[in-house]
Amino acid sequence: MITTQEDHRAKNVHPEYYDAAAAQIQPRPFPSPVNDPQWLSSAVDWFSQAETIMEVGSGRGEFAEALVRKGGPKRYYLVDMSQGMLDLVRDRAGKLSKNLELVFVHADIDSDPLNQIPDNSLDKIIMINAFQDVNPYSALKTFRRIISPKGFFRVNVLSREFRDENYHDEENFNKETGYFYLTRSHFADVKPLGYFTDKKGDRIPYYRILKSYYRKDLDRVFKECGFEILSAEPILLSKEVLLRAKTMAWNKSALRQEILSKYGGYPASIDVIARPI
Ligand SMILES: C[S@@+](CC[C@H](N)C(=O)[O-])C[C@H]1O[C@@H](n2cnc3c(N)ncnc32)[C@H](O)[C@@H]1O
Repeated sequence: MITTQEDHRAKNVHPEYYDAAAAQIQPRPFPSPVNDPQWLSSAVDWFSQAETIMEVGSGRGEFAEALVRKGGPKRYYLVDMSQGMLDLVRDRAGKLSKNLELVFVHADIDSDPLNQIPDNSLDKIIMINAFQDVNPYSALKTFRRIISPKGFFRVNVLSREFRDENYHDEENFNKETGYFYLTRSHFADVKPLGYFTDKKGDRIPYYRILKSYYRKDLDRVFKECGFEILSAEPILLSKEVLLRAKTMAWNKSALRQEILSKYGGYPASIDVIARPI
């Protein structure tokens, strides 16, 4: 069990962390399903069948670029708390868009209720590799207000069952809370979010807290915020996606090799599709 000093009402990651990631000259792709061509293509097909859509945490814009190239919707809101990331998406997708209106919203979904978006106005909302960063209640309550009664919300969520089953002695994972502490920042000028004390008694800085969820807790939180989960399928990230993301010593770790051969990929998150109730 690790002891931390964070304030649980505080953020899991500061926008400066992502601004620094956006400013990298040689960016490291995130270990995200958007970097798996098959997942990307099927999610874009699903998302493009709508008129008004919103993506939260659009990052460097891999999904936005693919969606804009495919076309279909009329208005696409792109929300991110990092201005640096939003600028990257604007550069990447803005010039490709012809009949699709792109609306860039610089907002932190943990505290901003997105009042500029009308009630019940969105057909589809998507959040890829970002739910672990946010306060689920704030985000879901906002989504519930702006989603159409017949709309859908799709999000990939880190599985706590997977972590419990496979990580027995991981220093950075708190089994009591399901939080994973990211102790490396590749950006020199980013301040730590907090510190934890490891088994040796050393004070370790961390830069991001990634929240994982048990399926039953997810059902409860979604229900409390007015959503019903329709499906939740594991997403298998391939070894290639992980290697490109340079996820910590991926190819050197025996445990990770074991996970790959056990599951045929890395099933760290589940692909949730929900609708308002
Ligand atoms: C790990 S990156 C994932 C980016 C991209 N969706 C992908 O899958 O590669 C998370 C993104 O979510 C954004 N983000 C994190 N917390 C947020 C919040 N509370 N409000 C708005 N955006 C947030 C970050 O700035 C970043 O662009």
